[in-house]
Amino acid sequence: MKRPVRKAILPVAGLGTRFLPATKAQPKEMLTIIDKPTIQFAVEEAIEAGITHLIFIIGRTKRSIADHFDSNPELDMLLRSKDKDALADQLNSIVPKDVACIYFRQAEALGLGHAVACAAPVIDEDEPFAVLLADDLMRADVPVLKQMIDIYDNTGRSLVAVEPVDQDKVESYGIVDADLPEVGSWGRLRGVIEKPKPADAPSNQAIVGRYILDGSIMRLLKDQKPGAGGEIQLTDAISKLVAGPGVDAYRFHGRRYDCGSKLGFIECTMASALEHPEYGQPTRALMQSLLAREM
Ligand code: G1P
Repeated sequence: MKRPVRKAILPVAGLGTRFLPATKAQPKEMLTIIDKPTIQFAVEEAIEAGITHLIFIIGRTKRSIADHFDSNPELDMLLRSKDKDALADQLNSIVPKDVACIYFRQAEALGLGHAVACAAPVIDEDEPFAVLLADDLMRADVPVLKQMIDIYDNTGRSLVAVEPVDQDKVESYGIVDADLPEVGSWGRLRGVIEKPKPADAPSNQAIVGRYILDGSIMRLLKDQKPGAGGEIQLTDAISKLVAGPGVDAYRFHGRRYDCGSKLGFIECTMASALEHPEYGQPTRALMQSLLAREM
C-alpha cells in the first residue's frame, strides 16, 4: 500500500535578487499580494490539500517566515483588547494546531535539488512528499496540490504540474516530454530537461512549482551532480525517477502567476485586487481612470 502525501517541502532559501532593494533584509516570500505574503498562499494550498507537515528550507534573512507562521501572543492580546477577536482568530488559524512546521537551514545556495535534499532526515524512502515553490502562485477552484494528490492516490506515481509556455520562455523552466493535449490531461513523462535551449526542448510544457515525489528521490539527490547553471537540479533527479518507478505530468486546472518576476507579481496583484470582495470595484474604477489619464 502506498503511503498518503502528508509532508510538503517549501524551499524558501533563495536570495530574491530580482526584487532588490525590497529583499535586502526581508525574504522575497514575505512580499505581499495586497495583504498576504506569497508564502502564505502556498501554505494555505498545502493545508487545503491535507498536508500535515510543512517543511521549510530557509536561509539567512528568512527568520520572519518562521515568525509569520508562529503565534504572536502580544499581538493576539492587543487585538482582543481592542475587540478585534475575528482578526486575532484569523491570524491564529493560518497554520492549524494539528499542522507541524519544521525548519531546515540551507547553508549554501547550491540549487533547488540541494534545497529539497535538506529535508531528507524527515522523509522516509517509501514516503511520497510534495514540493511547493511559492514563486508560482496558483489560483484555482480546487487547490492545484489537491488536484495532484487526487491523481497520486490513484496512480501512486510521482507527478509534476506543467503548463505550456511561449517557445522563447522554455529556457527558464524544466521542460517535459509528454503528451498533454488539454487542461486536465495527465500522462507518463518520457523525459525532462532543465532549462533547455529552444532547439533542444522536447515540447513547450514547463514544470511549474508543484511536485509530488517518491521518497527514493532523496537518495538520488544525495549523489546528484550540478547541472544547468552549475546548480544541483531537482529536474535532473526527477529524470532518473522517469527511468525508474516512472513520473507523470499533469496540466492542472487553474491559473499560475509567476511571482518570481516583477511583471508576474504586478499581474497577480492586479488580478487579486480586481477579484477582491471589498476592493474589486474601487480597483476597477481606479484602473479605468488611470488608463483614461494615459490616453
Ligand atoms: C525551478 C525549477 C524548474 C521549474 C521552475 C518553475 O526553476 O528548476 O524546473 O520549471 O522552478 O518555476 P527556477 O525558477 O528556480 O529557476
